[in-house]
Amino acid sequence: MPQFDVTIAGELNLDLVLYGLPAELPHERELLADRMALTLGSSSAIVAHNLAAIGCKVGFISRIGDDALGKIALERLAESGVDVSRTCQVKGAITGLTVILAREGGRNILTYPGTSFELRLADLDLDYLGSARHFHLSSYYLQRALRPDVPKLFEILKRAGLTLSLDTNDDPDDRWPKEIMETLRCVDVFLPNEREIKKIADTDHLDEAIAHFANLVPLLVVKMGAAGAVAQRGGERFSSKSIKVTPVDSVGAGDSFDAGFLSQYVRGADMAACLSSGNLAGAFSTTRAGGTEAFRDRKYQEQFWREHAER
Ligand SMILES: Nc1ncnc2c1ncn2[C@@H]1O[C@H](COP(=O)(O)OP(=O)(O)O)[C@@H](O)[C@H]1O
Ligand SMILES: [Mg+2]
Repeated sequence: MPQFDVTIAGELNLDLVLYGLPAELPHERELLADRMALTLGSSSAIVAHNLAAIGCKVGFISRIGDDALGKIALERLAESGVDVSRTCQVKGAITGLTVILAREGGRNILTYPGTSFELRLADLDLDYLGSARHFHLSSYYLQRALRPDVPKLFEILKRAGLTLSLDTNDDPDDRWPKEIMETLRCVDVFLPNEREIKKIADTDHLDEAIAHFANLVPLLVVKMGAAGAVAQRGGERFSSKSIKVTPVDSVGAGDSFDAGFLSQYVRGADMAACLSSGNLAGAFSTTRAGGTEAFRDRKYQEQFWREHAER
C-alpha cells in the first residue's frame, strides 16, 4: 500500500488579501482597505491543504526560507494534516508572498516569488513522492528551476506506478512556451482553466482548444468559474454545473476544484462524481477569504457538503 493518496511538490507561501480598496489607486495617497486576511496561499499548497481537509493522505515537498512568513505558512499546511516533513527551510532565504488587492470591478495579484522559483529536482525525495497513488503539479510556470526537469520527474513517477495531474495556472510572462507539450506526454489529467487552455492552444475558441488537447492527454478538465467545468475523455464530453454561492473572493477556486476532483479520481470514482466534487470544493473555497480559510472550519465544511453534495 502506498503511504499517501497524493503527493505534491511546489510552492508554499501566504496570501495577504486586502478588500474594499477603491477602483483607482492614485500614487502617493494613503488608501484604506476595509478588511484584510492573511491566509495560506500558493496553488500547490492550497491543493495539498484542501485535499487533506477533505480526507486524503497527502505528502508535500517545498523549498521555503527560515523567515517568519515561511514558518506560518508551513504551520498552516501542517495543521490540515499534510505531511511536510520533507520541506527544506533554507537558512537566510526569503519565502514568497502574494498580495491580492480586491477592488471594485476586479483584483490585482502581486507576487514576490522568493524561494518558489528555486525548488529543484535535487530537493525532491523521489522515493517519498513515489510512495503515493497520484502525483500533482501546480503552477508549472512558477517552477522555474524545476521546469526543465519536469518531464524527467514525471517519467520516474510514472514508472513507479503513479497517475499524474498538472494544473499550469497563469504564465506570469504571458509567453505560454510550447515545451509544455513534452511535459504533457506523461500526464493523465490536465486541469487548466478556460483562459489558460486557450492561451496554451493559441486560440480564442474553447472547442478548438479542447480538440487540440483531446488526443494528447487521456483526460482534460477545463474549469470555467461560475459556469462550472467540462471534461473531455477521448471522444466523450462531460459537463458539470457550478454550485450557487455568494462568493467572498475567488482566490484559489481552481486549486480547490483540483483538490475536490482529485480526491474522487484517486478513489476511481466516475467522471460525474469527480466533476461534481471539483465544483463543490471550488464553490466552497469562494465562500471564505482566500483559497484555504473555508477548509479550516470543519463544521462549516461538513454542513456545506451535506447541503450540496447530493444534488
Ligand atoms: N462564482 C462562482 N460560483 C460557484 N463556483 C465557482 C465560482 N467561481 C469559481 N467556482 C468554482 O471553482 C472552479 C474554478 O474556478 P476558475 O475561476 O475557473 O479557476 P481558477 O481559479 O483556476 O481561475 C470552477 O470550475 C467552479 O467549480
Ligand atoms: Mg488556477
